[in-house]
Amino acid sequence: MKLTIIGSGYVGLTTGACFAEVGHHVVCVDNDPRKVETLLAGQIPIYEPGLESLVKKNVAAKRLRFTTSTEEGVDHGEVLFIAVPTPPQADGSVDLSFIEKVAREISQFLDSYRVIVDKSTVPVKTGERVAQTIRRYAKPGVEFDVVSNPEFLREGSAVADLMKPDRIVIGGNTDRAIALMQKVYEPFAAPVLVTDINSAELIKHAANSFLALKISYANALSEICEASGADVIKVAEGIGADKRIGREFLNAGLGYGGSCFPKDIAAFIAIADQMGTPFTLLKEVQRINQRQIDRFIDGIREALWVLKDKKLAVWGLAFKPNTDDVRSSVAISVVEKLVSEGADVTVYDPKAMDKAKELAFASKVKFATSPLEAAAGAEALIIATEWPEFASVDLSELRTTMRAPMIFDGRNLIDPVAAADFGFQYRGIGRGVVETRA
Ligand code: UDX
Repeated sequence: MKLTIIGSGYVGLTTGACFAEVGHHVVCVDNDPRKVETLLAGQIPIYEPGLESLVKKNVAAKRLRFTTSTEEGVDHGEVLFIAVPTPPQADGSVDLSFIEKVAREISQFLDSYRVIVDKSTVPVKTGERVAQTIRRYAKPGVEFDVVSNPEFLREGSAVADLMKPDRIVIGGNTDRAIALMQKVYEPFAAPVLVTDINSAELIKHAANSFLALKISYANALSEICEASGADVIKVAEGIGADKRIGREFLNAGLGYGGSCFPKDIAAFIAIADQMGTPFTLLKEVQRINQRQIDRFIDGIREALWVLKDKKLAVWGLAFKPNTDDVRSSVAISVVEKLVSEGADVTVYDPKAMDKAKELAFASKVKFATSPLEAAAGAEALIIATEWPEFASVDLSELRTTMRAPMIFDGRNLIDPVAAADFGFQYRGIGRGVVETRA
């Protein structure tokens, strides 16, 4: 099929490349000429495993191309996917101005039937607005349908998530549009759930909020575990073994960050408020998430007494492993907090250093080139992102290089008993304080 993706950011680019990979002919539109140039040169502006080779392969096979021209995109695609940003506003509600602008641009070039798909995460009822906008600006009588088809990809495994999705959600109001969308997804051999537009839109916010709720549930448990001497990892295993609950997303830690969860939960709360049906449970989810950082910093302060001029190492800046994304990263919030209390912080992250260097806090910290270099002479080590390479660091070398043997493990990455055996004082999340045994 001929498909067009408008917006070549994270979701748009990955979706476009995966559609091309299964044989569709895809045009990706972006209004940033520099981005389009970079993509045409075979480089991708983000770090996502497997994406660059997928883009190169499909560009070479002439199934994927990039342009700045919306006209070319509308002309090409039987189905037009809108994948532009939907950033949060100060009150948590979603800024839909990019979606509205693209809807107007599409309508300008619309000559014959097209399916216009909201791929971006949008509040319920956005599809109705998009349809109204296109009708208002398009030539009279021109036919189109609007569909909601939310994306569930995770950063770091976006290609795999797209190629083998748990489910495809298609929210449409006409058989014609739904049939075309089913054809788009036929090559993926995934379960397809067909709904009305409003339900599809709601599914995305409801899914992300539920995952955030699961994380906050584990984090709330971690506080009770600390108070009672229980181990939150064992508790998570015990409850997660029940198939109805499941073990995933029950990892207690510094809480959720990233470009999706914080914004989507805030948006869902705002949407529910606007509709007069407040979702107070989600406000508690947010509160628990923030509390995890505060409790963690309190624990560091309690153990080290004064943070001013303390030499601290922080491992991890990305909001989670296998990405260079630092947007709404809890790791960065932790570093900012430590710096604001006068600590002398050295940071290291396997992939996110370049992105982190662009942020305001960067001038106030030192960047190391390895985990051990960051830890050299440190009076405490803080683990803020669960990169696998941190778990395999030689604890004996780490012990030798640090000035004082103290680990604050914000992601429960290191085995407390092993840490204690190597002479560390160890503090995880929901696992109590393990005193040195060496
Ligand atoms: C998420 C959803 O998983 C995805 O379906 C949606 O489309 C976009 O948002 P992503 O933001 O890439 O994807 O990250 P995810 O892997 O879900 O992790 C989100 C955050 O939760 C990270 O900060 C992670 O460290 C944290 N997390 C996750 C926990 O603290 N505990 C867990 O058990 C799981």
